[in-house]
Parts: sequence; C-alpha cells; structure tokens
Amino acid sequence: MKQKADFVLHNLECAVLYTNLYKGKGTKAGWNVEELKTASVASKDGKIVWVGNAAELTANVEILPDTRFYNGEGLTALPGFVDSHTHLVYGGNRADEFEMRVQGKTYLEILEAGGGILRTTNAVREMSEGELFAESAYRLEQAMETGITAIEIKSGYGLDLENELKMLRVAAMLKEEYPVKIISTFMGAHAIPADRLSDPDKFVDEICEVWIPEVAKSGLAQFNDVFTEKKAFTVAQSRKVLEAGLKWGLKPKIHADEINVLGGIDLAVELGAVSADHLLMTNDAGIEKLINSGVIPTVLPGTSTYLMESHHAPAKKMIEAGLPVAIASDHNPGSCQFLGANIIQSLAMLQLKMSASQALIAGTAHAAYAVGLGDEIGAIEVGKSMDIALFDVKSYREIGYKVGQNFLYDLIIDGVPVYTE
Ligand code: NIG
Ligand code: FE
Repeated sequence: MKQKADFVLHNLECAVLYTNLYKGKGTKAGWNVEELKTASVASKDGKIVWVGNAAELTANVEILPDTRFYNGEGLTALPGFVDSHTHLVYGGNRADEFEMRVQGKTYLEILEAGGGILRTTNAVREMSEGELFAESAYRLEQAMETGITAIEIKSGYGLDLENELKMLRVAAMLKEEYPVKIISTFMGAHAIPADRLSDPDKFVDEICEVWIPEVAKSGLAQFNDVFTEKKAFTVAQSRKVLEAGLKWGLKPKIHADEINVLGGIDLAVELGAVSADHLLMTNDAGIEKLINSGVIPTVLPGTSTYLMESHHAPAKKMIEAGLPVAIASDHNPGSCQFLGANIIQSLAMLQLKMSASQALIAGTAHAAYAVGLGDEIGAIEVGKSMDIALFDVKSYREIGYKVGQNFLYDLIIDGVPVYTE
C-alpha cells in the first residue's frame, strides 16, 4: 500500500541514513552511516513515511493534491542536530574570567572566589524575564542556524526558587516562540550560593522539599540535573536531589567526572539516569559500569577545550566498549562559549578523535536518547519526526572538516521548512 504524504523533500544530492543504530537499554551502539544518493524523503503530519531513491517516489508514495514539494537538488539532508546539554538561558558576561583562566587561574578557583556560576546567578537575578528572553533568543537563533532542531536547556543560575522558575519560564517562552524542540531541565543543584555556604545540607533539603515539588507542579521541567563535583555537591547530596526529583516525576541527569571522579557514574547507573554528562576524568571502571546501563554517556568536547584541559573525555574507549556515546555543546557563560552543532562536530573529531560518522551519530541519534526522545527524533527513519538539517554540501564529512564554517541551507522541523518557501 502506498504511503500518503503531505511533504516531500525531493531529488536530494543525498540523504544521510543510519543502518545499525542503538535501540535503547541493553542494545549495542552501531555506527554505520550510509549516504543515499539522489534521494527523497516523504512525510505526513510531521512524521517520516518514506525514504528512498527519488525515482521510486511515486511508486511508493501517494501524492495528495496539496502535497508540498521541496526541491532538494544539490543539498544533503542530515537528521537535525540534537544539542542535549546546554545552559542557554543566562545573562551577563564572564569575558574577564576567560582571560583569568588563560593566565592560569582554574575554573574551581574562580568559583570558590565567588565568580563562575555565582557571578552569572547575580546577573540572572537582576534581569527581567523579557531581558533574559531576548538574550537567550539570540543564542537560540544562532544554534538553529547551525542545524539544531532540538535543544535541552537547564536552569541553574537562579539558585533560589523564584529565579529558578523564572529561568524555566523563559525556556517555555522560547518553546512557544520557536519551532525548535526544547527540552527543559531543572538544575537547582548547580552551585551553592554564597549565603548558603554555611549549611549546604540545609540548602539541599530546601531544593528537595520545596523547590522540586514546586517545579514539578509547574510542569516547566522534565529532567532534574545536579553538578556532582568538589565545591559543588557531594554524591550523598546529589543522591538526595535526584531521588527527590524521581519522586516527583523528574528524570535524573548528572554532571559527573568533570574535574574529579567522585562516584557520579555509580549514582547515575543506580538511579537509572537518562544521561551522565562531561565524563572527562572517567576511567576504565566507570566505562565498565556504563555498559548495558541505559545511561547515555554524554561527552562535551567544547568544555574540555574551553577549559584548556590537557585531557579530554575517553570517547574512543567508550565506543569500543559498545556505549551509545552522545556529544553536546554544554553552551554556558563560563566553561564553554562554543555555540552550535558544527563546531562541536569538529571538536569531537579533533579532540576526542571520533570519526565523522561517529560524531554525527553522537550529535543526533544518541543525543536524542540523552533527552529521552530516542524513539522520536535523531535519524532519518520511517516513523521519526521530519526534523532535517539541509546542508549545501556533497557529503556529511564536510561538516566537521570545514571547521567554523557554516553551510546550512534550511531546517525542516515537523515537516515544515523554517527559513525558505
Ligand atoms: O556544565 N559544570 C557545571 N556547569 C556548567 C558550567 C556553568 C558555568 O560555569 O556557568 C558546565 O560546565
Ligand atoms: Fe553543563
């Protein structure tokens, strides 16, 4: 039987397909990328119904009177990029800290001196929702212009209930305003504010007993994240926060092994976190624990580069162990100003030594799993959303290779072109 279609991306230079993808907990990651030449992709109501050779379109697809044809000649269709870890909503500027770090001060030294996350917190508390929206919208547009069709955004610069909710409302406003899919994460446990340092456990209890119930009731967040690190939250405190979230239906995520190995991976595996992120310092034992856990190991090569670390996350070892490694930008005002998908593709290759196909799958299909949408987005596949990044290139290999250059031609989200037609 022919599939009905209301949108057809026709006569593409090529469509980039994955043939042996990770399928969820207990399955092994496969990294096969195929370029189908002279391809067409058809969708109905925003979902892909057919992918194949352009010449075979009419034999397989019922073209309705109002079906829209989009001329794909010369264009390469990639699954839209998924940026599964960002702190995109913030205000202010920490350019001076960037210079301090270049001169040799460390990230944790700056945080301890009241800078870092706490500095951005002061800025965010001063700003109105409208001001925060305007700054964040500008960045969101830049991210979209690199091919991103879904993006996760964390709170965590309010650090009191009122301002955490304000950040989450700004993310909701962005969701309302832009076609890109936005996934919201509560991250009240991002840092301990200066005036709470005398009793961090009391601060953690307040997050668990007051903030999390309020955030959950507001419906403004889906995930609950914690920064498990020295000068931030211990494993015991992180456990409390993530368990409280689980009780209220917020699924756990974790910032683990970024600077020190404290046991964040064990916690992620035990609680069934959707992802464990950073993993810069993760050792062989940590990799072993992640196998078959269902936790998506998310590596952030922009951050280790921006922090000038001598070491990067052991992505190759994770891949060898069969793990569904994801990559994301971690865009934030302090530890990573890299913004967008293309530069992260390049950094995954240059710093993590991933191949172009590994970087691509990590930044699309696996990143989709890292936000709980692995079955819905992240691949050009029948049944998934028609979320496509169209590039004016002959092969996906050009994306990472042409560092810092952008060949995006258009985005298609839910079967609707964003920039043209
Ligand atoms: O993912 N690690 C903690 N949080 C962010 C940094 C946030 C900031 O410095 O503002 C990160 O690197
Ligand atoms: Fe982060």
